[in-house]
Amino acid sequence: MKGVILAGGLGTRLYPLTHVTNKHLLPVYNRPMIFYPIQTLVKAGITQILIVTSGPHVGHFLGVLKNGTELGVRHLEYAYQEKPDGGIADALALAENFADGEPIAVILGDNTTDADISDAIRRHKEGAVIFLKEVPDPQRFGVPVFDAKDPSKIVKIEEKPKQPKSQYAVTGLYLYDPKVFDYVRQCDPQYAGRGELEITEVNNFYLDAGNLQWEELNGFWTDAGTFDSLSQANKYWGQKSQASHTPTQHARSASIVR
Ligand code: DAU
Repeated sequence: MKGVILAGGLGTRLYPLTHVTNKHLLPVYNRPMIFYPIQTLVKAGITQILIVTSGPHVGHFLGVLKNGTELGVRHLEYAYQEKPDGGIADALALAENFADGEPIAVILGDNTTDADISDAIRRHKEGAVIFLKEVPDPQRFGVPVFDAKDPSKIVKIEEKPKQPKSQYAVTGLYLYDPKVFDYVRQCDPQYAGRGELEITEVNNFYLDAGNLQWEELNGFWTDAGTFDSLSQANKYWGQKSQASHTPTQHARSASIVR
């Protein structure tokens, strides 16, 4: 399967930081934000990746990522979203040629997770798969509404509801079959009233067609597109990195002692 990272948008929620560079190149602990979604894909065996980006700092990506080999990427492509705030589904539309009739794994460029999605990728044949995570603030996200009689069934997904009907966020990781591009073409910019083509509308098209599966994301997950979530991401990845260094340092000093 090929992978698509959506890294367009203007990052206005992070002004003035995003006057300096693209949101997805801002640091999350010791790495630029976009390294995290790239590593999620590479860890799942996906090494052909398209990055869709936009805005005034697009050139910075090449300088940071080059051709991606340092991160384990075999083939890296870029696409430019003409309307930087056209919406997530508008950015995804640019992946149609790259996908070339095959299923794709899509990750939003400001999502960081240590979950392993390889199994879901291996199992995926058709339709869409979304990954849910329980969060304290679901009103910031796409939120699934579960069937009161059968809580394993989602009846719809609401985008940033004022009164969320569950505690789950639809994370920015998705698996789609090639039908996704037909659904993107059917999106209405006024769907959520902000003039953007919404990925939630795409997911609801799959749901209405009885072709949407969901899984709970196993591991840490946060977006990093607001000051609070960026700070949370920095904290988690900093602690994880320090924890992973400790045993090596202990082993090293132990071997010196021996
Ligand atoms: O993080 C998960 C959430 O992401 C989902 O729960 C929501 O359903 C989904 O709409 C999205 O919500 P956000 O409000 O957080 O999306 P945001 O506008 O911040 O965009 C997230 C990423 O998508 C951004 O880092 C880059 C990409 N993007 C966004 C827009 C608006 C594009 O590539 N192009 C765009 O035009």
